[in-house]
Amino acid sequence: MTITKTKEPAFHITGEVGWINDPNGLIYYKGQYHVFFQYYPEDTKWGPMHWGHVVSDDLTNWKYMPIALYPGDDFDKNGCFSGSAIIHDGKLWLMYTGFIENEGGESIRQVQCLAESEDGVTFKKHGIVIGEDKLPAGYAPCDFRDPKVWRHGDFFWCIVAARKTEGKGRILLFKSSDLFGWELVNDLFDADSAGKMIECPDYNEELGCLFFCEQYQPSENGIHLNIHSCRWCTGRIDYSTGRFVEKARGIVDYGFDIYAPQSFAGEHLFMGWLNMWDRSVPSAKYGFAGMLTVPRTMAIKDGRLYQEPKVSTTEVFRTTLSDRIYDKAVTGVITVRATGLEALELKLRTDGKNSTSLVLSNGEWVFDRSGSGEAITGEEKDADSLAGIRRMPYSASDEVTLTIVMDEFSVEIFEDGRAMSSTIYPPEGADGIELTVKADSCEYTRADVNLK
Ligand code: FRU
Repeated sequence: MTITKTKEPAFHITGEVGWINDPNGLIYYKGQYHVFFQYYPEDTKWGPMHWGHVVSDDLTNWKYMPIALYPGDDFDKNGCFSGSAIIHDGKLWLMYTGFIENEGGESIRQVQCLAESEDGVTFKKHGIVIGEDKLPAGYAPCDFRDPKVWRHGDFFWCIVAARKTEGKGRILLFKSSDLFGWELVNDLFDADSAGKMIECPDYNEELGCLFFCEQYQPSENGIHLNIHSCRWCTGRIDYSTGRFVEKARGIVDYGFDIYAPQSFAGEHLFMGWLNMWDRSVPSAKYGFAGMLTVPRTMAIKDGRLYQEPKVSTTEVFRTTLSDRIYDKAVTGVITVRATGLEALELKLRTDGKNSTSLVLSNGEWVFDRSGSGEAITGEEKDADSLAGIRRMPYSASDEVTLTIVMDEFSVEIFEDGRAMSSTIYPPEGADGIELTVKADSCEYTRADVNLK
């Protein structure tokens, strides 16, 4: 199938053409940030997974590199699934899941594989390093994927998503002295996940922050409304027991479109997939489906995940307002700083008929994409999802800073370290911005993204 890309976001990573999902192997190597991603270049639907590859020196402008991993060897016959990267002996190593299925899609096997590169461009595969034989009894070899590798002390460590044969998601911890020979240490929680299966576990050792996604996770008090959801957990891996000692947990992003967040190796920075499984993707007609979030800094503040967008920008417009302003832009970063905020309503990408809105209502942020433009349909059946609504907590404070990263097909909203990210498909020309506030003081700034 030959696909041509006719439209694309200005600064969000997409495939050169075709389908992408999870960010993989996020790492700074030889003077550049490397981002790999789940990639199927032959169609705008998920297919046999490759690892697409882009590089950047400013985390904002990304350059396509040759595809890093192609499926097709015995150990990754039907796909090179998600994984991570680590630098060792000056080389770049990728750990990923080899996906193997028989003709009918039955008897699926998922195994952890290794690949190596000296230049960060071409990769030599080494095959399976954690196979079915390393799975403890009672775990399913068909659901064993997404290794995240790091170094601690004298060893390499790696967590892999797994599932008990008759159970739900688990995270297994393995250890190695050379990246080739691995031994099982323990099951991090030794308890089933809420969702059917865990995917894409990520551990940020320095911060003490674990991310993981849960497929078909039931909603909890009005959050985790997406059919598949992602959590952060603060705490530490106790290397002597191989257990995770948890302090607190929460949702990574309150929006419609976020999955598979992964942190950059050794950095307080992460990205996620800015889409959701089991939903329509209107951009398929433009030759691409799926994009990644902007990079986000990550910290633990007040005991929870605190994130901010990391995009290179130049301020182009600043004003103070007493009640309302109108502006125009399709892409860029908007910042609203207010003191004594009582009410706020922001309309983005409006043309009088369509608009995407964010309202501070009854002590929470309410995002509404029902009037954004082209509809996105999914499997969710709850009232908010059907109404195009997502909510994010608002912790009232004297000074509020709201930051919104806007691109052609997305809005990522940040306030007080929380995020709410969604795709939107407004019509051509819908570029109006309308901000109404009731506050003691309010300053509106808009910045352009520095595109090379
Ligand atoms: C998560 C996921 C991973 C898997 C990959 C396949 O979005 O399902 O668990 O490795 O996508 O593309």
